[in-house]
Amino acid sequence: MSLPRFPDARVLAQGANRICVRDPDSDAHCLKYELPPAMRARGSLRQRLRRWLAQHFPAFGENSAELRAWQWLSARLGDSTDRFVAPCIGIVHTPLGPALHCALVHDARGAPARSLHAHLFESTPYQPEQLCAAVDAFEAWLLQHGIPLFDLNSGNFVVIDEPARVCAPRLVCVDVKSILEDRELLSVSRWVPLLRARKVQRRAERLRFRIRERLGSTSC
Ligand SMILES: Nc1ncnc2c1ncn2[C@@H]1O[C@H](COP(=O)(O)OP(=O)(O)OP(=O)(O)O)[C@@H](O)[C@H]1O
Ligand SMILES: [Mg+2]
Repeated sequence: MSLPRFPDARVLAQGANRICVRDPDSDAHCLKYELPPAMRARGSLRQRLRRWLAQHFPAFGENSAELRAWQWLSARLGDSTDRFVAPCIGIVHTPLGPALHCALVHDARGAPARSLHAHLFESTPYQPEQLCAAVDAFEAWLLQHGIPLFDLNSGNFVVIDEPARVCAPRLVCVDVKSILEDRELLSVSRWVPLLRARKVQRRAERLRFRIRERLGSTSC
């Protein structure tokens, strides 16, 4: 399996597992294609086994995992999910292969929202404490609803402006597949509320640490 070549103008970003491109039929959506195994880091035995299974059974792939996780979330929380998570629409079959069809998150000027990773490593109009406050708000939402989302890395978030507030960024998660992904053999932290809350708090603290480490800790 090889990855089709996308014109540069269509590519939004390439993550560790997938490439995210604009939907040629809609400015409001994007498509995520899974990368072929040869284009990924080697990974653990467990990840390699899952990738091998995904080549034969698409239900084991990242796109199916993300769709199931988003459906689980929206069944629990309804439309309020969309404030913090980009909606997934479904798996579509395109001329370039199967892809996950998602709502594309836009910034206030109508351009695709930039990832938190780009804010940290390229440029940002925000102060570190403003981005940390956005992490606080996302963490509070996870804790309020008991959501076991632990993969809080900067590539899994895009940043938008909170409407009607000056210089108040909000994080929107564009990758919730870790909600239903079991990295641990016995995922007690997923099911035991106190352990789940502690793990969310640790991961959120680690993300705030990365923001301060990268941008300094000047307060606004
Ligand atoms: N719905 C979306 N709206 C706007 N941008 C998006 C959206 N989904 C993904 N992106 C962009 O694509 C990048 C990678 O997305 P995603 O995390 O889904 O891929 P991935 O392959 O799972 O990455 P990784 O394995 O590194 O976490 C994001 O950082 C973001 O820039
Ligand atoms: Mg991701």
